[in-house]
Amino acid sequence: MQTVRDIDSLRQAIAALRADGGTIAFVPTMGALHAGHMALVAEGRRRAKHVVASIFVNPTQFGPNEDLATYPRREASDARMLEEEGCEILWAPDVGVMYPEGHATTILVGGGITETLDGAARPGHFAGVATVVAKLFNQVRPDIALFGEKDFQQLAVIRQMVRDLDLPVEIVGVPTQRDADGLALSSRNAYLTEDERRAARALPRALGEAAGAIQSGGDVGAALAGARDKLAKAGFDPIDYVELRDAETLVPVGQVDRPARLLAAARLGRTRLIDNLPVGGS
Ligand code: PAJ
Repeated sequence: MQTVRDIDSLRQAIAALRADGGTIAFVPTMGALHAGHMALVAEGRRRAKHVVASIFVNPTQFGPNEDLATYPRREASDARMLEEEGCEILWAPDVGVMYPEGHATTILVGGGITETLDGAARPGHFAGVATVVAKLFNQVRPDIALFGEKDFQQLAVIRQMVRDLDLPVEIVGVPTQRDADGLALSSRNAYLTEDERRAARALPRALGEAAGAIQSGGDVGAALAGARDKLAKAGFDPIDYVELRDAETLVPVGQVDRPARLLAAARLGRTRLIDNLPVGGS
């Protein structure tokens, strides 16, 4: 695997893959890789001849009081994992390469999809995500790009951006990879103390129980309130949201007459955890 850090070297490396023929799959990440990221790389290999990954801890998607400075960085071991999984190019630019002096363009995905849920809790977050992902797509020019359902709203925002801007890339969503007790794998799980890690399993459990109740015809409001209550009892504070939304537009739904998604975000100590589950065949 070749690691490249400037745009010219990236273009050359991509041209070499293109000369070899076949399609290119792309997996954008912020590093601190785990089996969730690796599932995206494996799916990329199944769907395309070549796989390219990026590691870039994107400052524009972090709020002023968020964990940009402490976000885990371990590129050497990340590179080994990517190579073992068959990734051929690792694109790992510095901040100055991604955002050179004078960079002045931002992608704002409208229609309400970026202002709700995580967008409400993290103002500006999805503008940072959409801008960097648009840049990454233009830099790598992949045929397909893979994103985890773990960040379900991010996946919806990227799909909307690709549709709206006619970007020539196919977006593939990959199911959330979980630990044995159900907790979704996340680079941020490394922040949890042992006690918090034990308590964290309440998040997938509460969502699972609420999804089950809704699926079997239970009252949506009561199921959401029950999930919030279980999270509070497990020590989550604050609970940013527990919501049932349309699986595509993310608008609130009061009953499951189309594919829906149950989404939650809550803080355990200093760690903010998010998770989501399908309800009604999404
Ligand atoms: P990061 O948090 O590193 O995640 C990179 C990709 O891995 C995302 O598509 C995310 O949804 C996926 N992922 C993370 N945990 C997962 C899990 N447990 N199961 C399945 N997929 C999982 O998301 C970002 O980086 C950034 O916002 C990025 C898109 C790279 C833009 O900066």
